[in-house]
Amino acid sequence: MLKRSHMCGSLRASHVGQTVTVCGWINTYRDQGKGLIFTDVRDREGLCQVVFDLEQSPADLVALAKTLRREFVLAVTGTVRVRAGGANPKLASGEVEIVAEKLELLNAAEPPPILPDEHDAEKIGEETRLKYRYIDLRRPRMQHILRTRSRVTKFARDYFSQNGFLEIETPLLIKTTPEGARDFIVPARLHPGKWYALPQSPQLFKQILMVAGCDRYLQICKCMRDEDPRADRQAEFTQIDLEMSFVQREDVMEMMTGFVRGLWSELFNYDIGTVERITYWDAMERYGIDRPDNRYGLETCDISAIAAKTEFGVFKEALAKSKAGRGGVVKAIRVPTPNEKITRKLLDGYSDFAKTYKAGGIPYTKLGANGFETGIAKFCEPVKAELIEKLGLKQGDIIVFAADDYDIATKTLGELRQRIARDLQIVPEGKWNFLWVVDFPMFEWDDNGKRWVALHHPFTSPNPDQFGILESNPGGCLSAGYDLVLNGSEIAGGSIRIHNTKVQEKVFGLIGLTEADARMKFGFLLDALKYGAPPHGGIAFGLDRLVMHIVGTDNIRDVIAFPKTQSGMDLMSEAPGPVDPEQLVETHVRSTVPEQPAKV
Ligand code: AMO
Repeated sequence: MLKRSHMCGSLRASHVGQTVTVCGWINTYRDQGKGLIFTDVRDREGLCQVVFDLEQSPADLVALAKTLRREFVLAVTGTVRVRAGGANPKLASGEVEIVAEKLELLNAAEPPPILPDEHDAEKIGEETRLKYRYIDLRRPRMQHILRTRSRVTKFARDYFSQNGFLEIETPLLIKTTPEGARDFIVPARLHPGKWYALPQSPQLFKQILMVAGCDRYLQICKCMRDEDPRADRQAEFTQIDLEMSFVQREDVMEMMTGFVRGLWSELFNYDIGTVERITYWDAMERYGIDRPDNRYGLETCDISAIAAKTEFGVFKEALAKSKAGRGGVVKAIRVPTPNEKITRKLLDGYSDFAKTYKAGGIPYTKLGANGFETGIAKFCEPVKAELIEKLGLKQGDIIVFAADDYDIATKTLGELRQRIARDLQIVPEGKWNFLWVVDFPMFEWDDNGKRWVALHHPFTSPNPDQFGILESNPGGCLSAGYDLVLNGSEIAGGSIRIHNTKVQEKVFGLIGLTEADARMKFGFLLDALKYGAPPHGGIAFGLDRLVMHIVGTDNIRDVIAFPKTQSGMDLMSEAPGPVDPEQLVETHVRSTVPEQPAKV
């Protein structure tokens, strides 16, 4: 086989006159019948033009060149010259071309079901791309994403290794680690009736590595959560998982801020500036969400006190809601409408949107020259001065309201805020806003289960000043958890952990685990904590989400080489699939799914 000397995309004017050999796939093939065949040859680094001169070349080369078709694999040797037909500014190698002297056909290809070019990708739809992923991944955009992902993991390894982190692998076949999702389970052949769980994260193992004196741990690891995939969620995804000993919250946050600062500087030469911090409750008050996108305003404002003075039935009803939890509220967003981009039609649509978050609707009104107009104007008019002052209203502004119990009104308006920003087209491009969210509640009340559930996970410690109220006021107790948010998406989450057996037992008790349950599920952790556990804390970055931001896609499947569909299928290998009945017998598993009649 001809030995490759250069990558296609690397050829430049400085190579003119040199004899080079490139290897790759035929991207385009043009026989213009004028004694020349033009091909673009593609490899991982890009394209270069290769010309076959049918008149000057030996007969066997000409014959072979004429058989070439798209996606054939070849090696070609030739001389680099300045492009005879003028430079192609769209290609990095566009100033030059190779005049072929030797050609080796390494493999023919059947006419491909999809073509690896960008126009085709938009036309053909994702299912076909996933089925023929090996062709789809040849596209320059996908190659760019894979390379960027690799740069991110390399940067992570370098940065954390320079900071004393050891890369340590933890097992895949484990006992369940609760991260709030369903486990994927694997039958244990050697232990009839028993099952392994695949890790939802290496949480307990990394904590135990701290007890084991490893001090600083890193793993770039797969996590498996049997939940429905979404645009930014896969059942199988990758974390950059970290843990540190003898640290407090500030130490972990500083180390992780240094990581993203360095990464953005390396990839974009971009200074992320000071990373601001917001408390969970502030975030809920101002943005209605615990991962606020603070690239734009449109903050939410509690106007319950003003709403109480109106005669509007919806407000009255909301405010009279049971005082359980945080009671009823009326919240509002002031929406400036400089270009009239929010139309009546959109406003009416917002009520349907609100219904998906269990809210009754989205009342609205608009401040005109002579007072409120449209919507619920007549109810707002009597409190006009107060609304103007509280919301900072200007003439022409629209106000949208959500009135319900605290959770529903807050969440609805938080989601609506993001939708309005998109409708108004005020989400700035090319801006990276990192934000730490801190002081999360330790627990949320689960009304169905009638018990507290841990907001992060049950190994998260209370904040140092909160231990006193852990038992007396679990709902008010704040945790030492922290999330890193980028432009409104959670890219990392972590916490300082409980390193004291008694506190850990208390937290298990509060979330409704009996001592026996706690022992059965987490006995190994409780034991480890007894034998000299250092104070420790850590975090995990969602690698896929990080790369999504970096390459600018809102589809998580774009950044994973072999992703699963919304219904958890790998369309290329056709997993999941049936297993041999023998395997079920061996693993002591009997299916409850009725057997499908054999097809004739
Ligand atoms: P958490 O569950 O918050 O924390 O996960 C950490 C980060 O992983 C990403 N992530 C996901 N990405 C894609 N698909 C998913 N299904 C998915 N779920 C989570 C998010 C998230 O911020 N053990 C803790 C970490 C710790 O406490 O150190 C944990 O797993 O970006």
